[in-house]
Amino acid sequence: MKTNILYPQQDKNAVKTAAELILQGEVVGMPTETVYGLAANALDGSAVAKIFHAKGRPQDNPLIVHIADFDQIYELCPAVPPQAKMLAEAFWPGPLTMIVPKNSRIPDEVSCGLDTVGIRLPAHPLARDLIRVAGVPLAAPSANTSGRPSTTTAEHVLRDMEGKIPAILDGGPCGVGVESTVVTLALDPPRLLRPGGVTLEQLRRVLGKVEVDRALFEAIGEDARVSAPGMKYRHYAPKAPVTVVCGNPQKTAEYIKQHVGNADGVLCFDEYRACFPGCVVECFGAQTDLAAQAREVFDRLRAFDDADVRWIWAQCPSDEGLGLAIANRIKKAAGFAVVEV
Ligand code: TXA
Ligand code: MG
Repeated sequence: MKTNILYPQQDKNAVKTAAELILQGEVVGMPTETVYGLAANALDGSAVAKIFHAKGRPQDNPLIVHIADFDQIYELCPAVPPQAKMLAEAFWPGPLTMIVPKNSRIPDEVSCGLDTVGIRLPAHPLARDLIRVAGVPLAAPSANTSGRPSTTTAEHVLRDMEGKIPAILDGGPCGVGVESTVVTLALDPPRLLRPGGVTLEQLRRVLGKVEVDRALFEAIGEDARVSAPGMKYRHYAPKAPVTVVCGNPQKTAEYIKQHVGNADGVLCFDEYRACFPGCVVECFGAQTDLAAQAREVFDRLRAFDDADVRWIWAQCPSDEGLGLAIANRIKKAAGFAVVEV
């Protein structure tokens, strides 16, 4: 299959072409403000099955469903919890996915046998246009091959999906860069399953008590029953193994300098670019610029694959604000091989 890139800025039919493919049961690469998604008609089980095939995604890892207007949630969820409205008012459209009870319109291919579904109303205008023009909610996981870093440009999507999907809608680089926050409203109190573009602090301001799933901080065994099935798989990983060094940046740079081998990779804050001569250095933003770090982290992790490094050493922000999501992605890329200094 040839994979076409559709450019909405040059081709006024780009969204329509993508929507037609969706309605024919195909999978299309879709920009969102967080990362690119692999979108299919969420109400069509066999279209959704193609997503799993293209990604090589484990069959027990459910997909989230994207809607364009809040009221669409009533078509998918039999009892919308009051907290869903509060969260939507505060953070939609935007990088937040809510897990709510699902009805029978959601096929098993989306929910993998769970009685809940993740719903998100994305902020990216092209994502919302595509949902509206197709006229159906779109199931979409991140558009990477399973296990690889998520995709934040159409080029990344092409790298992983060439020959596997018919089209990618190019919306330029993603603004947020890490995936949406996933919070479940099916538990009381609500629980954060994946940190993302909306911070834990922001969620607590709206919901009061929010618990944090332990999978954010530790490796979960393959057989474990977890609240977000996606959390137990190795994720975001470049080809080379990664060691994360956490703590004061000055000290972590010092530690990495002492341990790094010649031609190893180093993922570091901009301030430390010159500290690792002889290494393959990828900077992902100034140490206090969390927005830049979120935008850059997946792109920089992917860059190490082209350089063919043996080992990667990574600096990491602390867990406050957006730092929690960035640190979580870097630690997961490392399979939680973390050194504290
Ligand atoms: O920003 C995002 O959320 C992107 C863009 C494309 O919207 N999508 C994305 O999807 O990151 P995905 O499939 O890569 O991650 C969704 C996560 C997975 O960890 C999955 O296990 C979890 O959400 N999830 C989905 N449905 C769930 C459910 N019913 N209960 C618990 N966790 C669920
Ligand atoms: Mg993903």
